[in-house]
Amino acid sequence: MARISDEFIEQLRMNNDIVSVISPYVDLRRRGKNLIGLCPFHNEKTPSFTVYPDTQSFYCFGCGAGGEIISFVRRIENIDYIEAVKSLADRSGMPMPEDGYDDSLIIKRKRVYEMNKEAAKFFHQTLMSEEGKVALEYYLSRGYTMSTIRKFGLGYAPDSWDSLLRHLRKLGYSNEEVYEADLAKKSTKTDKTSYYDNFRNRVMVPIIDVRGRVVAFGGRVLDDSKPKYVNSSDTLVYKKSLGVFSLNNAKNSNDGQLMVVEGYMDVIALYQAGFTNTVAALGTAFTPEMAKLLSRYADEILLCFDNDEAGRKATERAIQVFGSVGLKVKVIKMTGGKDPDEILKKYGPEKFRSFITGAANDIEYKIIEEKNKYDIESSDGKLNFIKAVAQILSETDDIIAKDVYATKICNELSFSKEALMSQIESLSKKRNFRKRTDKFREIQKEISGLNNKVNPQKSKNLRGTNAEETLLSSLMRNPDFWVKVKGEISAEDFITDFNRRLFQIITERIDKGANIDLSLIADSTFSVEEIDAVKSIEMKSENLNHSVKECRDCIKVIKEEKEKSVKTDMNFSEMGDDEFMKLFKRSKD
Ligand code: UTP
Ligand code: MN
Repeated sequence: MARISDEFIEQLRMNNDIVSVISPYVDLRRRGKNLIGLCPFHNEKTPSFTVYPDTQSFYCFGCGAGGEIISFVRRIENIDYIEAVKSLADRSGMPMPEDGYDDSLIIKRKRVYEMNKEAAKFFHQTLMSEEGKVALEYYLSRGYTMSTIRKFGLGYAPDSWDSLLRHLRKLGYSNEEVYEADLAKKSTKTDKTSYYDNFRNRVMVPIIDVRGRVVAFGGRVLDDSKPKYVNSSDTLVYKKSLGVFSLNNAKNSNDGQLMVVEGYMDVIALYQAGFTNTVAALGTAFTPEMAKLLSRYADEILLCFDNDEAGRKATERAIQVFGSVGLKVKVIKMTGGKDPDEILKKYGPEKFRSFITGAANDIEYKIIEEKNKYDIESSDGKLNFIKAVAQILSETDDIIAKDVYATKICNELSFSKEALMSQIESLSKKRNFRKRTDKFREIQKEISGLNNKVNPQKSKNLRGTNAEETLLSSLMRNPDFWVKVKGEISAEDFITDFNRRLFQIITERIDKGANIDLSLIADSTFSVEEIDAVKSIEMKSENLNHSVKECRDCIKVIKEEKEKSVKTDMNFSEMGDDEFMKLFKRSKD
């Protein structure tokens, strides 16, 4: 794939100030000449995400994510290099260069979006036509109003093998394209491949992303036949593991709170009843990626899964998943019906609202669940329940909650509070010790580079790699030093492949008189993780004294270490911790 020209990227950078690109995603506050905010790429409570207007770059001191506008957009929108360039070009009204880049994937995606929109229109129109009467009756029997039907763009896929296919072909889409959008299936039973509509005789719900594009569909049968629901599988524009229904509606509706339910029909019923902050996954459990996505729009999640065993299992898992990205979690317990839809229909919205008001936080919820497991009238059951409570309370860092619940349970069961507290204390200690050692290992791995996927050779020679990185960092900030040291080092002298590659790119560019801005070095050939690494190397320049002598010192170390590395190939992972830590200290000074 040909590269986009430097001129274009430079223009793109001028037209898209990094602060204005990042602001919609991160609340930024000024700090000196830079801006800081909570990192959108990992969960944190104090800001370590820094934006540098003067170099038009960003870096997170918490998770190491770093780069410039293009890599920011790539990562936050989960798209590739060309798409990010395209999106920034669109944003600033720049036409993309005619050639010099491969945009076939973008065009393909665009066609899928358009096709999905056409399909949604087709389903909706069919619903409103004579043919859709049965489906309209179905919706009305579920209590949906016409306004809800329009709001969600609901539709009907007729009872036919190819009516959507024929419609889309008329609009210029090929069978294969319709198949790739998962709107058609294909059969190769006979010697000729034949295509047929994926959704037939189903009421259709379009899945719309936060940017308002139709990305997928869900379809439900009109009766009790199986399978009840068919949902789109993954396509160029849709990932099941990331798809959240109605987030486009819910994201702006309620300050920092999103309600998560099991079915998208529940979402629609709840929306109609005024609970507009509701979302659902589509035939999958909630994934950590979805939790991350939701954490952009909320800080508290209300879980409201079905009132059955599967729902309870899903709740337990969801508490974990949402908790792990730092979201507060509350659990709604419904009585008198299996899901929100049924509750609304039977008792009306006020009843449902009372369940929300009575929602338990995750600790309360877990305690209630445990209580239901044991017969607390028996002393055996009481003891087991107390043990379970101690376990639950030992897992929270919230001291007040610990005390409140311990007091409550001990009063209820006439149990000694001192005994429970000391049990909690000892479990907490164990847990904290485990946490600390895990953390220590993690940090150790981090600094040793054992965990460094981008530059796996780093761990084998910290001293040499540090010298390489310092040299690169200095050259990135002081490209004029290159002519002075040029004769003293070449790519072959480098110890690690990644740094060698970076060295080649940088020095070739300096030789050509080209700009070495991060956005130009870190082009389409780099992954976002590699760009993080480049940015973190560049960040080293903050602590350098920026002299040619410094570069020469690095070159000397690189050559020494290169020679050594050829002789010995020592293995860090076989080294004891003490031995290892000693090495680290030595290499740092
Ligand atoms: P439920 O079976 O609880 O559906 O599945 P529901 O929302 O109560 O449906 P109604 O009220 O009978 O219409 C909940 C979710 O599980 C997925 C769907 O995403 C559904 O929204 N599911 C269920 C499937 O993907 N396939 C199925 O066959 C059933
Ligand atoms: Mn239901």
